[in-house]
Amino acid sequence: GDSWVLMVTAQTPTNIAVIKYWGKRDETLILPVNDSISVTLDPAHLCTTTTVSVSPSFQQDRMWLNGKEISLSGGRFQSCLREIRARACDVEDNKKGIKITKEDWSKLYVHIASYNNFPTAAGLASSAAGFACLVYSLGKLMNVKEDESQLSAIARQGSGSACRSLFGGFVKWKMGKEENGSDSLAVQLADEKHWDELVIVIAVVSSRQKETSSTSGMRETVETSLLLQHRAKEIVPKRILQMEEAIRNRDFASFSQLTRIDSNQFHAVCLDTSPPIFYMNDTSHRIISIVEKWNRSEEAPQVAYTFDAGPNAVLIARNRKAATLLIQKLLYYFPPNSDDLNSYIIGDKSIAKD
Ligand code: PMV
Repeated sequence: GDSWVLMVTAQTPTNIAVIKYWGKRDETLILPVNDSISVTLDPAHLCTTTTVSVSPSFQQDRMWLNGKEISLSGGRFQSCLREIRARACDVEDNKKGIKITKEDWSKLYVHIASYNNFPTAAGLASSAAGFACLVYSLGKLMNVKEDESQLSAIARQGSGSACRSLFGGFVKWKMGKEENGSDSLAVQLADEKHWDELVIVIAVVSSRQKETSSTSGMRETVETSLLLQHRAKEIVPKRILQMEEAIRNRDFASFSQLTRIDSNQFHAVCLDTSPPIFYMNDTSHRIISIVEKWNRSEEAPQVAYTFDAGPNAVLIARNRKAATLLIQKLLYYFPPNSDDLNSYIIGDKSIAKD
């Protein structure tokens, strides 16, 4: 009859850039001004779970985020839905006696239910995991044959950083050359087992929503910052090669140095924007000082830090021992009853497959 429902559930972790994406050369297609590199987190800690379903009884596309209905009318959702639908293939479920042809998909509506296993309001890059999971689960539902890189070019049109969450481990988003964005996609540099000693600690400095969205922040930076032009043309291309080599060789000293200077340059570019954008606060700056001082007191760097469009610190320790010492130091400088740090989220770099 007409009463069936077909469902797919997928889970996608968020990712943290170690060479930052900041600035678009095309706002509609979301094409960046430089390559970026990220590490994908363990899905146990920061991830989105999305269930997509299709039924002939659905009257329109609808979406719920953490149980609350949200609008799908935005251009970014529409781009992802359109691009996935355009690639839909025949689906047959013999047990349920369902047959959906390629052509049927343009007349069928989907319902999307998405949950984050971390507070959405904490300002911890939820859009990256969200759009990656949306595109991946819809692709599975509609039997889309495209590989992860091709899907990443669709997720990119939801949120730039989302394209890097289609893979685990270390991922590069290639800016690409084409005007239509077809070659602006993610590739895996190394899988989640390649460097599994690394431990990521997230220090939640503030759970307040960021003041300047990444979209408007990037636009203002592209329009006003000369430092961004220099960064995109002269600095990042070389840094990408150095970072790829550091990852290949599991060279923590280089990895840590490149991660720290690139985060700092991203925030310098924000400061170079007119009017200036401040994402880090005094607590963020104190964390930077503590880590820099500690790294200098050791023979080799123990921890890297990186900050996105907000004050929360993402700390990458070279191993478990360094992570334990790091947490002890953070607890010493920011005791549990202080207002500066309200929680720690501790995660492995890798996607646990077992
Ligand atoms: O994808 P967006 O628009 O949320 O931009 C993310 C930008 C940064 O997180 C600051 C850097 C990055 O490369 O993820």
